[in-house]
Amino acid sequence: MFMSAVIITDALWGDSGKGKISAYLARAENASYVVRCGTGTNAGHSLYFGKNLVKLNQLPLGGLANPKSQIRIGSGVVVDPEIFLREIKEYHLQKRTKIDFRCAIIEPRHKQAESNDSNLSKKIGSTKTGTGFARAEFIMRRARQAKDVKELKGFTSDAAKEINDACLKKKTVILEGSQGTFLSLALSPDYPFTTSDNCTTLALADDAGLNWKYIKDVVMIVKAVPSRVGEGPMPFELSSEEIEKRDIREYGVTTGRPRRKAARIDWNLLKYATMLNGPTQIALTFCDHFDLEVKGVREVKGLTAKVKNLIKKVEKVTQTPVTLVETGKDFEDIIALKR
Ligand code: IMP
Ligand code: MG
Repeated sequence: MFMSAVIITDALWGDSGKGKISAYLARAENASYVVRCGTGTNAGHSLYFGKNLVKLNQLPLGGLANPKSQIRIGSGVVVDPEIFLREIKEYHLQKRTKIDFRCAIIEPRHKQAESNDSNLSKKIGSTKTGTGFARAEFIMRRARQAKDVKELKGFTSDAAKEINDACLKKKTVILEGSQGTFLSLALSPDYPFTTSDNCTTLALADDAGLNWKYIKDVVMIVKAVPSRVGEGPMPFELSSEEIEKRDIREYGVTTGRPRRKAARIDWNLLKYATMLNGPTQIALTFCDHFDLEVKGVREVKGLTAKVKNLIKKVEKVTQTPVTLVETGKDFEDIIALKR
């Protein structure tokens, strides 16, 4: 289906299962490359493979899911060498993983500075991963890059070139985004309650150095029951009692913080996200939180009227087909809709 690049982007505030959809597509579409885009190690992508919960902060989950895929980190992503080396070792990915040689490096002092900065750590609710400080130093032209780090020797490449070359040969390349549209530094209306870069479709393409002509599809993830971690506005926010009552608690992968949750999608925000991202397909995730009855359903005929109506509404607002529906935590809890 995707003969070249597919970008996986997030409509709202992240934590929507981009990594899982990337993993699903990496397998289904036999991706040649899966590229981690987005800001840095502030993102936490997690997924149950069978009984094993895999959590990644630096690598793309899609790359792990398909042993035939090459894994890359785009030059726009900041890299924490300690986390990178730990993840490739833990999952035996040394042979098929490379970082773009231009990636800026997160130093221990960046993490320290972020924790010590009360504006970031308290008011904004930063993940304290050093991502923002490393980016700031990069902009000041003082950062080290991946090519300057001894421990990363052998793990760097010109990822932008490899990716564009693969696209030219009509191979499937997946760009796995992180964060979400309304955490974008310069496009969210909520500044300063944002992350340290934009996270929309073209920002992600830029993180990888992808030529726009190779973009074949944009899969925008829409979380059926939106959530937000850290501070900043979220329409229709539920109280913690209500979250408890509905049995839809969630915790951040990176920080372990409870996620704030909304009663429903704000249709105006979704329209705005559609305008910014230009999706060609929608993946509607966390449908089991929207209607507990569809938990673990793996066939279209098991979907309830409530969820089917939500699909219709999302399609109407976005003018884009919903092609994937997620109904639970397991890897197999994804239904592909024929469109
Ligand atoms: P920072 O990017 O770690 O400085 O965090 C800034 C804001 O973005 C905080 O509200 C974080 O909770 C939020 N944030 C950063 N990364 C993610 C993510 O991957 N998912 C959800 N929220 C995030
Ligand atoms: Mg960027």
